[in-house]
Amino acid sequence: MKQRLESLKQEAVEQLGGVADVAQLNDLRVKYLGKKGALTEILRGMGALSAEERPIIGQVANEVRGVIEALVEEKQAAFDHKETESRLAAEKVDVTLPGRPMTQGSVHPLNQVIQEIEDIFIGMGYRIAEGPEVETDYYNFEALNLPKNHPARDMQDSFYLTEELLMRTHTSPVQVRTMEAMKGEVPVKVICPGRVFRRDDDDATHSFQFHQIEGLVIGEKIRMSDLKGTLLEFTRKMFGSQTQIRLRPSFFPFTEPSVEVDVTCVKCGGDGCRVCKDSGWLEILGSGMVHPRVLEMSGYDPEKYSGFAFGMGMERIAMLKYGVDDIRHFFTNDLRFLQQFSRI
Ligand code: DAH
Repeated sequence: MKQRLESLKQEAVEQLGGVADVAQLNDLRVKYLGKKGALTEILRGMGALSAEERPIIGQVANEVRGVIEALVEEKQAAFDHKETESRLAAEKVDVTLPGRPMTQGSVHPLNQVIQEIEDIFIGMGYRIAEGPEVETDYYNFEALNLPKNHPARDMQDSFYLTEELLMRTHTSPVQVRTMEAMKGEVPVKVICPGRVFRRDDDDATHSFQFHQIEGLVIGEKIRMSDLKGTLLEFTRKMFGSQTQIRLRPSFFPFTEPSVEVDVTCVKCGGDGCRVCKDSGWLEILGSGMVHPRVLEMSGYDPEKYSGFAFGMGMERIAMLKYGVDDIRHFFTNDLRFLQQFSRI
């Protein structure tokens, strides 16, 4: 029996010496040390031994088990170490590589222009008012002196949702909403930025959606000269202190008199160039003295109060200021375009 144990030990040591991987090691562990393994098998015969022999053989058996166990452990440790090594090598991080810069967002150029315009008017004591993009026929047209079936409605081809609801075609309805909310109080001094919608061409200067800023001032003895001074102040802050403005007679149903306002060309300063088509002037907004009917409909006595209003397209202002030649750049979200306006 002792012999069998010794040769078992020898065989195990030999086989374990040549073990190639963890799977093989496991097989050998089971083969020699397992419940049904070779050692157990031999020890099962211990019952047949005499009382003197039993402790001696027991000792040998324990020693053999000890040797095999130690060897298995040693091999296991070696495999573990090797695996850790190769994992470390595979997962190695090169800390000397340069980092990937995080791309940072920035304010959209249109929002920059809106903020700039808002700042200028807030500096002149205006407050910001907003209204819904889905508007009623009353606020969008009727209360602005554009009765149903009036031909002047053709000036703004519109998206109707129902007979009475439409996507607002301009920010002028916010004038009406503001006057109603003010309940006849003066002074009214607001600007109303927002998105507007029109059934329009889709080309370099037209889009079915764009942004406007509306302005409205109502008080006692508000005159055309106040309008002119306000717009001159605004355009100089926006386009530079040399800017001049020019008021041309025009027509809007909600103002009387109505004017269109031009600024000296942002490119040539008034000498004439390609941008201003050699005229020296660029049209930037519509405006006028609030029509007495409009004041009256929204609860202001036209005998006592007067006011002016204006409305401008934000994209147009941004295009002029930054020399952008296609309105669609503002909506297509091409980063190459947008990044040029990053202030970071
Ligand atoms: N709502 C006009 C438009 O979209 C612009 C406008 C003109 C607004 C004259 C005004 C104004 O407040 O007084 O074409």
